[in-house]
Amino acid sequence: MTRKRVVILISGRGSNMSALIEAAGDPNAPFDIVGVISDSDDAKGLVAAASLGIETKAITRTQHPGKEALDSALDAELSRMKADIVCLAGYMRLLTPAFTERWAGRIVNIHPSLLPLFRGLDTHKRVLESGMRLHGCTVHFVTAGMDEGPIIAQAAVPVLPDDTEGDLATRVLGVEHQLYPLALRLVATGKARMEDGKAVLGGVAAAGSLLSPGSAVDEVDIESLARMTP
Ligand code: GRF
Repeated sequence: MTRKRVVILISGRGSNMSALIEAAGDPNAPFDIVGVISDSDDAKGLVAAASLGIETKAITRTQHPGKEALDSALDAELSRMKADIVCLAGYMRLLTPAFTERWAGRIVNIHPSLLPLFRGLDTHKRVLESGMRLHGCTVHFVTAGMDEGPIIAQAAVPVLPDDTEGDLATRVLGVEHQLYPLALRLVATGKARMEDGKAVLGGVAAAGSLLSPGSAVDEVDIESLARMTP
């Protein structure tokens, strides 16, 4: 199978980006990371990607005032990089409907909550305030609405009694780094597709994992829980 060409969009530190780059290092991975684009010149992730020999580019609001102008520049750059799939990884702009429509089924995002709960920012703080005993992350196809597209895969972690916002963020981030490469493999191999506005999974036993409260987080093995069948 030809490896899909993936471009990652970031705004900040890029730890999910790094997890995807590491996953692409597997000779059996169905994708290559061919570029990283940021909407800010000083995103830390740009430095990390460049140090790994990946082409990087900043496409900023200052260069392209107006949402449409910025998204057109982004689209042109993605075409130049010959992107098959776009991964949002902490990209802090809402894309225009024209852009999400053009990339429909080929653009995915990771969000630090069990969607459709806790869309938007400050998810860990809001989960703690809500009293939820479970939290987690979601990879979904991107549509025009914020954090609204069809869900591809999810992983849940416990909220422990003495958790701070930071504790919870760290625990969720640990599973994000496992879930995103898994979900991207599903999309790159065509096992997860978007059809009629819904996510369709084929040849996948499960695309969710659940940790019971109190179990050690480092015991999570999302790969075995979301085993792919041939
Ligand atoms: C992650 O929590 C991701 O779920 C959210 O933004 C954060 C990005 O972190 N969309 P990083 O830049 O990947 O470290």
